[in-house]
Amino acid sequence: MKHEPIKVTPHLFQLGTKSFPVYLSMGEHGMIIEGGTGPTFDIIVSQIDSLGIDPEKIRYIALTHSHSDHVGAVPRFKRRFPHIKVLGGSVTEKILKKERFLKDFLPADKMICDILMDKGDIHEMPPALEKYAFDIDQVVSEGEKIELGKGISWTVFNTPGHSPCHISFFEEKENNFAIGDITGYFDPEMDIFWPNYFYSLEEYCKSILRMMDIPGERILLSHNGAIETKSSSHLAKALKATEIYHKEMINRLDKGEPNEKVCRDKADWIVSIGALASYNVLLFLCDLLIKNSQKDRDKDLFNLA
Ligand SMILES: [Fe+2]
Repeated sequence: MKHEPIKVTPHLFQLGTKSFPVYLSMGEHGMIIEGGTGPTFDIIVSQIDSLGIDPEKIRYIALTHSHSDHVGAVPRFKRRFPHIKVLGGSVTEKILKKERFLKDFLPADKMICDILMDKGDIHEMPPALEKYAFDIDQVVSEGEKIELGKGISWTVFNTPGHSPCHISFFEEKENNFAIGDITGYFDPEMDIFWPNYFYSLEEYCKSILRMMDIPGERILLSHNGAIETKSSSHLAKALKATEIYHKEMINRLDKGEPNEKVCRDKADWIVSIGALASYNVLLFLCDLLIKNSQKDRDKDLFNLA
């Protein structure tokens, strides 16, 4: 089997692929964290099977946010395992209901498929579905606990900034902190961040600062897997990387460099560290970051004290 499931802790498994992982938390019952992607659905199902876990024991899929690479397997889970309830924040629920969502989702899921084929992680497109249903079955909110039995309980936190809808999950028995994309794209091997404050720089920094007190001993990244580190130090590093990136954007624009040039430079750099999007999407996202940097340019956002 090419993609082996990884046992992260006694109650937690990393499934999917390294670039697009999901996490399976098992108490008496199971919860999948992250909604996966269309092309990784079959991998996830075969990993659950190889672990000998009865899918009937999996009660929930918990979504961190509504981006296509974080909800893509949901319609396939709903079809194959209709007993599994989809949990998500109220803003995610609203976004997933919009007609526009599906129009944006299908090309994004195809883009992920192309990336995975390029990496040799998969060899073909999964078949299209007749119907794509993303409905949230149960809205979860700040402070709510999701109990899985055997002492495993996940707490929900609102962490907007990367997107307006982003939420994170912390499990205190094993100190696992599923932070989704709140610290952006991070490559643990290269120790490099690409900050992703696509919704708001101010909210992004506030969410990182607010989560600094969580006693996480392990970070479950939405890309590149689980990392063994105190969550407070990962978050502090992410905030610093965000400050550096933001200041670079502002300085370069202040010196008169054209937006397009800065975006192209950044997109090239992201490709060099392992992009999970097409070049045009990267250009669009880099431009979005520039706009968000300009919006909050005079705010004091990086103060750890
Ligand atoms: Fe995202």
